Amino acid sequence: MTTAKENVHVKLDAKPLRVGIVGFGTVGSGTLRVLQRNQAEIQRRLGRPIIVTDVANRRIEKIEALAEEGIRIHTDPLAVAKHPDVDVVVEVMGGTTVAKEVILAAVAQGKSVVTANKALLALHGATIFDAARKAGVDIGFEASVAGGIPILKVLREGLTANRIEWVAGIINGTSNFILSEMRSKGLDFSTALADAQRLGYAEADPTFDVEGIDAAHKLSILSAMAFGTAIQFEKVHTEGIRQLQSVDIRYAESLGYRVKLLGLTRRTPHGIELRVHPALVPATCLLAQVDGAKNAVMVQGDAVGPTLYVGAGAGSEPTASAVVADLIDVARETQALAQRVTPPLAFGVQTALPVLPISEVETSFYLRFPVTDRSGVVAELTRILAEHHISLSAMLQKPVQEAGGLVDVIMLTHRVKESAVQAALRVIEDLPSVHQPVIRLHVETLEA
Ligand code: NDP
Ligand code: HSE
Repeated sequence: MTTAKENVHVKLDAKPLRVGIVGFGTVGSGTLRVLQRNQAEIQRRLGRPIIVTDVANRRIEKIEALAEEGIRIHTDPLAVAKHPDVDVVVEVMGGTTVAKEVILAAVAQGKSVVTANKALLALHGATIFDAARKAGVDIGFEASVAGGIPILKVLREGLTANRIEWVAGIINGTSNFILSEMRSKGLDFSTALADAQRLGYAEADPTFDVEGIDAAHKLSILSAMAFGTAIQFEKVHTEGIRQLQSVDIRYAESLGYRVKLLGLTRRTPHGIELRVHPALVPATCLLAQVDGAKNAVMVQGDAVGPTLYVGAGAGSEPTASAVVADLIDVARETQALAQRVTPPLAFGVQTALPVLPISEVETSFYLRFPVTDRSGVVAELTRILAEHHISLSAMLQKPVQEAGGLVDVIMLTHRVKESAVQAALRVIEDLPSVHQPVIRLHVETLEA
């Protein structure tokens, strides 16, 4: 069998994009990991490699091991911003003072920057974007809002035909995680917050998360991009979840609602709404079912109507996913004009991957057998299924109202190849006690 690797024929431009990472914590380490693990895939998309040449971190012991991989290590982030052999700087150290200095220094050197720092952009976005425009470089900041969900690309590119009417969503993973844990496991507030911190979701100062400030940073960026206004963080009405009482979460639940920390910005004839606060959301609404550190953003456009984007809003690799996507965009921008075009099918280099025949595909199955109601029928069914190595995860039997003497035997299988199910059904359908048609549906749990 030929592998995907053997099918790569297109000559690749060998000149790598050289990246310097400042801040080697949750997001910085995830960024290096994703770049290294997916190096070949990224190179196929881009036609050139992206390599990390420099990393800076306050505590040198966190990055000492990287020197053995040939990465230059520093404690001073400005050394990365100014290094002549760094093309792009990834700022993932957080904070609004040194981080700002680092970004402006990189921009002054003609380097594009990718950042996840929403606090910095909410406070100093205008200065940073202005400096970048004057220097003719890019600022990528997809990771700053909703972690791994490419919501900024949606507003900047996908929905540009629309007059955006409102944007609303769950945009702080930590507080959503806390609310979910309190509701589903009955955890108290501080235990749930400690878990969020341990999992790398929370800000260095977690009051930003629980007081709604982080969500307000993000909302001010979303609002600017939805309506073409300035970033107006200072005008966001902000309430957090700290004052929420579990009794109100329970009462809301009994009324058919879930409590979520929402960020909402809406165009009205008199101005824009800009608010972050806990809100009761109908339990049937998709937003209400978004739990854990997941984020979800709804965008209402006049042409498209409501659209919904859901995914991991925090965490090491989900955030790195957005950082690396920005790096790929920056890499495309800095290529020679003729190579700048984003490949229409996403990859610059295509591979021949075999498409599996359906008989080879493995899923779970729902099987419904209309059978004569007599003893031994179910035993016959399970024996034949077992002979085809099909194991069951659930079974139930229901009388069929209309047809006298018939019952429906319903079975759910564990994952098995379609070919095994087809073979078993051929035998089962010949049994005199089994009536037609036998119903076979795929079960897709869509888990990772
Ligand atoms: P961490 O605290 O995990 O990592 C920050 C790293 O930066 C630490 O290793 C720290 O070093 C280093 N650092 C901080 N200040 C300096 C400095 N002055 N000089 C050198 N190194 C410094 O933070 P995260 O990775 O979680 O977050 C980074 C950024 O990404 C923040 O802006 C955050 O808001 C944003 N973000 C985070 C997400 C997440 O899920 N965690 C998601 C989306 C955005 P040391 O430990 O030695 O002090
Ligand atoms: N602390 C943030 C959150 C990280 O919990 O959503 C992602 O921006």
